[in-house]
Amino acid sequence: MTAIPGPKSQELLARKQAAVPPGIGVTLPVFVTRAGGGVVQDADGNSLIDFGSGIAVTNVGNAAPKVVERVQKQVADFTHTCFMITPYESYVRVCEKLNELTPGDHEKRTFLVNSGAEAVENAVKIARHATGRQAVVVFEHGYHGRTLLTMTLTAKNMPYKHRFGPFAPEVYRAPLAYPFRWPGGPDNCAEEAAAQAIDMISKQLGAENVAAVVLEPIAGEGGFIVPARGFLPRIAEFCRANGIVFVADEVQTGFARTGTLFACEDEGVVPDIITTAKGIAGGLPLAAVTGRAELMDEVHVGGLGGTFGGNPLACEAALGVLETIEEEDLVARARRIGDIMLPRLRALQERFGVIGDVRGRGAMIAIELVEPGTKEPNPAALQEIVRRCHAEGLLVLTAGTYGNVLRFLPPLVIPEHLLEEGLGILEKAIAAL
Ligand SMILES: Cc1ncc(COP(=O)(O)O)c(C=O)c1O
Repeated sequence: MTAIPGPKSQELLARKQAAVPPGIGVTLPVFVTRAGGGVVQDADGNSLIDFGSGIAVTNVGNAAPKVVERVQKQVADFTHTCFMITPYESYVRVCEKLNELTPGDHEKRTFLVNSGAEAVENAVKIARHATGRQAVVVFEHGYHGRTLLTMTLTAKNMPYKHRFGPFAPEVYRAPLAYPFRWPGGPDNCAEEAAAQAIDMISKQLGAENVAAVVLEPIAGEGGFIVPARGFLPRIAEFCRANGIVFVADEVQTGFARTGTLFACEDEGVVPDIITTAKGIAGGLPLAAVTGRAELMDEVHVGGLGGTFGGNPLACEAALGVLETIEEEDLVARARRIGDIMLPRLRALQERFGVIGDVRGRGAMIAIELVEPGTKEPNPAALQEIVRRCHAEGLLVLTAGTYGNVLRFLPPLVIPEHLLEEGLGILEKAIAAL
């Protein structure tokens, strides 16, 4: 309807700039008035195709009917009591469901918090408490949040860590099996990366000093890096053999996003603790820590929790999300999205040398942009493609340690014609470049 951003959004942007610090960046400054069905509408009447889902959150769609219905009823009944003061059933139901649905048939416990970062912080607290050890191992290209501990766990300096130190102690970083950039080539990647990580842990830290290994089954902010097959099981096996708590950070990969309910399932990996957030409650703030009962039960009464964690509106939303995933078979929908997108993107890679790598699983897909004929990162091409996509009404997100990854996270309920239309816009943007 208008240029992007249109006049009303520009006016609101000026107000944002006066009221909100610039540290809170904005990918696409159109101010939203409604969203749903894979479309975001803005204050100027523009409709954008949504390939971002609010960063992998609205997997079931925006304002999904089951979520709306449950939240509306709950908001009229009561909005908060604090679960730690006077509890309510929906919190327990969400925990029961997560204990049942997360990988592994061992006895589990779950508790609820407000954000992905808070979930990861708590996973580390529990691992340290249960093992009596201190060291935490994370990986290159990892992202775990913006709090003091989780930004320490995060790999990338800019924008997440720059001048925010000193960082939390006892955090160590190991190589990640990144097939596209592994010096020994993709075929040796899993074995070599796992061997290096294990060597680092054994020789530099001593496995007996390590409380937890925290790993994203697909690195999200780091650039949708799918670790080479075999890497995850090898690391999990090493942890098991050495009494190290293996934490799968599924904050971005969870809830059907990658074509299985949780990404760990793809290689049959069973984490000791799994952290979830984002897609859990259709956009209401909720996150969860689910772990082996014997670990979780170690922590004394009052050692875990928070005022808002497991808010009743968010719990109802989560129950609505889980019902929607099951009833609409969104796991299969995610796979179908991958089956449509991957071949289309690989065909573009054949035509355009700027696409160095096409990767991902299910509806978590990315392309890595390079200087044609090399593996040199090409962040300038990324910025230009994103600019063109946004101008043509396709909302896309960026990622990557080298700032050169275009990532796609459509809502799993997106109609196929919109998926096709979005891919058409992307193709034109790359061709124009
Ligand atoms: C893998 C992973 N862990 C943790 C986080 C932090 O979650 P939140 O932004 O809800 O604190 C994110 C957010 O992008 C993430 O992708």
